[in-house]
Amino acid sequence: MAEPTTTGSPTPDEPLLRAEDLRVHLDTPRGLLKAVDGVSFAIERGETLGLVGESGSGKSMLVRSLMGICPSIARIRGSVRLDGRELVGVPRKEARTIWGNRIAMVFQDPMTSLNPVLRIDRQLTESMRLHLGLGKKEANERAIELLTLVGIPEPLKRSRSYPHQLSGGMRQRVTIAMALACDPDVLIADEATTALDVTVQRQILDLLQEIQAERGMGMILVSHDLGVVAGRTDQIAVMYAGRMVEHSPTADLFAHRRHRYTEALLGAVPRLDVPREQRPRAIPGSPPDLITLASGCAFAARCGAADDLCRAQRPELGEDLGTHRFACHHPVGTDAPAGADAASGDGADEKPSLMKETPA
Ligand SMILES: Nc1ncnc2c1ncn2[C@@H]1O[C@H](COP(=O)(O)OP(=O)(O)OP(=O)(O)O)[C@@H](O)[C@H]1O
Ligand SMILES: [Mg+2]
Repeated sequence: MAEPTTTGSPTPDEPLLRAEDLRVHLDTPRGLLKAVDGVSFAIERGETLGLVGESGSGKSMLVRSLMGICPSIARIRGSVRLDGRELVGVPRKEARTIWGNRIAMVFQDPMTSLNPVLRIDRQLTESMRLHLGLGKKEANERAIELLTLVGIPEPLKRSRSYPHQLSGGMRQRVTIAMALACDPDVLIADEATTALDVTVQRQILDLLQEIQAERGMGMILVSHDLGVVAGRTDQIAVMYAGRMVEHSPTADLFAHRRHRYTEALLGAVPRLDVPREQRPRAIPGSPPDLITLASGCAFAARCGAADDLCRAQRPELGEDLGTHRFACHHPVGTDAPAGADAASGDGADEKPSLMKETPA
């Protein structure tokens, strides 16, 4: 394998983005919180990774570490390489040029990225003048192009608005335009549509997908909802308590989910073909405290198939990226051990109806 470099040209046989044994540990007053603990994945150009898991599973901390925007109490270890260039441990000044231009993020709340007292055109052009060194006229033209690209009607007129004069969906389109301003290689959307109503949510997700395909960017779509990433991703990583517990090509994950947590998460996705009162909404129990995590499987306390082995020994995820990896001693499709409550044990071969399409 090619050696990672911090300078020079991209390494040809490296994927666009690769994380290896990535850890984000936070020094909190209560003790060490392992928000991300040993995560590995790779994304090629034009590929989308869906990152799913319940609240607090480490999704945001993981993508923030790729962007270099973790809280100051965070210690980042392991490796993140963009086109073969290592980002972890690189001097901030050098890394900032990469993060600012080549990896961009769209947040859940558009007001996180927008300045409420500046007009949209100014916010768009300032970032392009700063990062791309464009002149005023050029930056203005490009701002209108970007607003058109993200489907803002009457872009010239809207560009003179302040953020509060736009609807939530329009504001999110503007933040997508801002994220695209420097032509990033990787676009990260962290729950970018969660706050929007279902119709607008779908429009924004479609827009992201179209732009990503057109520009050949790598994309990471973060969501607590497997239904949102189904049919929009090439691979899915399921996070639980700071770790990946299942990682696989998307079609394979839906057809043969193996981890008991993935199974439970699928059960928690609201399905429109099931009467409202029969729709399971949440996984019973709560996620564990990441500071006092026990040594066994972190999901054991909530898992119907858990036995003494699960409580004593943490199952490992395979290392072979691109294959179907899962960290479970008693995966779906195998018999739950004697004595365990096999509540979540069956249904491995049933394909959930929320799966809209399976990428080739
Ligand atoms: N600034 C911080 N200080 C201390 N702990 C933090 C901080 N930010 C996040 N955490 C903790 O890190 C863990 C992972 O949080 P993270 O925000 O990555 O979860 P998430 O999967 O994105 O959740 P959500 O779906 O709610 O956005 C959680 O236990 C959270 O409490
Ligand atoms: Mg989050």
